[in-house]
Order: sequence, then structure tokens, then C-alpha cells
Amino acid sequence: MSLSNRKMHKAVLKELCSPVTLLEIGFGSGSQLEMISRSFSQTALDCIDISKDMLWCANKRLGTRAALSSCSIEITDYPDDFFDTVITTDTCYFWTDAVRTLNEIKRITKSGGRLIIAYNSLYAGSVHRANSAFRMYNNAAIMKLCENANMKVLSHKTCGFKQKVLVISIQKE
Ligand SMILES: C[S@@+](CC[C@H](N)C(=O)[O-])C[C@H]1O[C@@H](n2cnc3c(N)ncnc32)[C@H](O)[C@@H]1O
Repeated sequence: MSLSNRKMHKAVLKELCSPVTLLEIGFGSGSQLEMISRSFSQTALDCIDISKDMLWCANKRLGTRAALSSCSIEITDYPDDFFDTVITTDTCYFWTDAVRTLNEIKRITKSGGRLIIAYNSLYAGSVHRANSAFRMYNNAAIMKLCENANMKVLSHKTCGFKQKVLVISIQKE
């Protein structure tokens, strides 16, 4: 997983502008976090993953360098306007209510902050799992999702075969 996602991890890293506070959603084994912590040694790293097994793996890799916790992004207890940057790679397919999740991300991100979503569109439209909200997105579907969540897309780039990086500017009234 980490190896096949390497191009997305590198593409996300290129989009970061020395954030002071960063949240990674769905950190998996922690390989992207390790890359970020090497490039941005001063950035405060918060990270959540729904899986306790992944928490155990990433803890071994990162130790005290990042505040890792096991919870879902669908509802968090972070304060409003907390992060400069929120990133998530290869995870948006699992969000049961994607618009609600984007609204939760908006709540905890500062106005003018950024959300970076990296995803694989290879099987978009062809993956259906019974009794599951699992969903893969193609370009049109992800743009529609951002529109429904009232989010402003700054860029949408390809970084590998059918792998994409979407940069969103968080705007609040
Ligand atoms: C395909 S893995 C990607 C891991 C890592 N981001 C990477 O690029 O290697 C998806 C990860 O998202 C996590 N995940 C799924 N749903 C989640 C949710 N609602 N909140 C937080 N993490 C979630 C899974 O436990 C898993 O570790």
C-alpha cells in the first residue's frame, strides 16, 4: 500500500507550504507522515485513523513526533479553526457521508487553510460493495462532491496512473 501510494505521497508533499499545524486523516502505516516530518521538522502533526492496528504500526514508525489517535474523521473533537492544512491520501472512498465529512474538515480548518485530497480514480464507477458506502471517484464525481460541500478547488493534478491530487482552499464567511 505505502509503495503503491508513493507518487501520491510525494505529490501531496509538493503542495505543502510549511504548515504550522497539520492533520492527516487515515494515516495507515504512517509512511506519508514520516516523509512530511522529515521535510517540515517544525510542523505540529496530528493524525487520525479509524483502525487501531494502523495506530499501532504508525506509532512504531513515528513515536512521539506526531499526535496519533484512533478515531473517525466523520466526527472529531478538534476545536473550530484549528489546522492550517488537512491532508488525506487514498481514504475518501470510505467516508459514509462525504459531504458531512467535508463539512467537519471545514469546521476544524482555519479560514484560508488548505485541504489536500489524494485519490485513485482507476476503478471509479466499477466498484460496488453490497451494504457498504465504499465509493471511488472520477474527476467529475469529486468535483461535484466539492461543489456540494461548497468548497473552492485551487488545483486538480494527475500524479501517477489515474492518481490525482486535489487542493482545496477553505473559505469561511
Ligand atoms: C487505503 S488506506 C491509506 C493509508 C495511507 N493514507 C496511505 O496513503 O498509505 C486507508 C486508511 O484510511 C483509514 N480510514 C478509513 N475510514 C476512515 C475514517 N472514517 N476516519 C479515519 N480513518 C479512516 C483506514 O483505516 C486506512 O488506514
